[in-house]
Amino acid sequence: MQKIQKIKGTQDILPPESEKWQFVENTIRDIMHRYGYHEIRTPIFEETALFARGIGQLTDIVSKEMYTFEDRGKKSLTLKPEGTAPVMRAVIEHSLTVARPVNKLYYISPFFRQENPQSGRFRQFHQFGAEIIGSPMPEADVETILLGLDIYRALGLSSFVLKINSVGDAESRVNYKNVLKEWLKPHFDALCRTCQERYEQNPLRILDCKETECRRITAGAPKMIDNLTPAAEEHFRAVLRMLEENDVAFEIDHRLVRGLDYYTYTAYEFIGSSLGAQNALGGGGRYDLLAQELGGKPTPSVGFAAGIERLLMALEAENLLPETALRPDMYIATPGAEGRMQAYKLAQELRAQGIRVETDLLGRSLKAQMREANRNGARLVAIAGESELQAGKVVLKNLENGEQQDVPLAQLGEIVRKMLAPIDSQTATVRAENRDS
Ligand code: HAM
Repeated sequence: MQKIQKIKGTQDILPPESEKWQFVENTIRDIMHRYGYHEIRTPIFEETALFARGIGQLTDIVSKEMYTFEDRGKKSLTLKPEGTAPVMRAVIEHSLTVARPVNKLYYISPFFRQENPQSGRFRQFHQFGAEIIGSPMPEADVETILLGLDIYRALGLSSFVLKINSVGDAESRVNYKNVLKEWLKPHFDALCRTCQERYEQNPLRILDCKETECRRITAGAPKMIDNLTPAAEEHFRAVLRMLEENDVAFEIDHRLVRGLDYYTYTAYEFIGSSLGAQNALGGGGRYDLLAQELGGKPTPSVGFAAGIERLLMALEAENLLPETALRPDMYIATPGAEGRMQAYKLAQELRAQGIRVETDLLGRSLKAQMREANRNGARLVAIAGESELQAGKVVLKNLENGEQQDVPLAQLGEIVRKMLAPIDSQTATVRAENRDS
């Protein structure tokens, strides 16, 4: 029979790769908690209208990339392509701003976009993201940036730059669109087909077109930040001042407009230097009008999201991932069928004490079990033969230095814990993080 394979653009995250994900996710959660963000989990699919209205009908995401389908009730549903619109939908639906004027929420979740798969670009990908819902202050914009930077810093990543721009408020945008269109008019015929289509509907996107000729043309275009209303300009200056105060290096990028329509005021991206064409590690900005767009009250908000696959690629490229593969502390080997039941009970007792214990599930010979213990990276092996068990003891062998000793069953857990303590303090840290999160 023909084998069924995974869908193009999706990935199976197998062990020990999955343990790298856990390591990164634990770090993300730890830093999110330090900043006082609480986790929000929204459904994998939503009503299609949420994204059409939230992200913008004319964006690439909505017009070309969404996984949209009708359910049996003929309702149009979409697998979530991003997290901000769902978070805002949930905030409005549950009136979260009534209980707290400012909600700081984070998520780690899969998202779905039908893009052409390539290195760093998938159809199911994962983001971690944070949103501050309900604050108009420039401090909130800066906090989301500092949070993103701290997560990268905690993982040791430094090979990236922060690019920032202001896309203004609604009024600045209307003004700027006219200025830009006027300026582009004499160059219209030289623009690529896509940009010619963007000219009427979404001229700002012409600024971030990757075509050489379009880039050449727009290099001299008027800048958004020279066309801001006084309020938008004041906000942008305050954000930049705070970044400087906090010693954050940034580049103002006049072409940075982002691929989602909900942005107002600040827009920013973290651009990785060790990645290829798909070098955006993460991006975000302010979206003061989204709540109203979704039927809520005015709720100024700001946030960012960052790709986990790209983060792992960047960490891998710089050799920044520690050895994370989970190893058993101990393997219980049973030479004969008779001791088996007792050995499994012993394993349960030790597991209850927090020790990672593996046993043989294939009825193998003692030699094969010892090989398996080594292959799995077990630190210790307890050989539980029938006669030893009857005498109330096991032979405990340290696989790292070959030493072995007889240990009374009553003291096994205590002795094992003592032996493990100094072996690997790093594992203990990772373990503590796993436990705490
Ligand atoms: P975005 O720029 O569309 O923003 O996505 C954020 C990040 O997700 C990108 O920088 C990239 O690292 C990753 N990403 C996006 N598409 C893919 C893909 N096909 N394959 C792999 N990684 C991908 C947003 O989604 C906004 N919701 C961010 C935000 C939050 N703005 C305000 N709050």
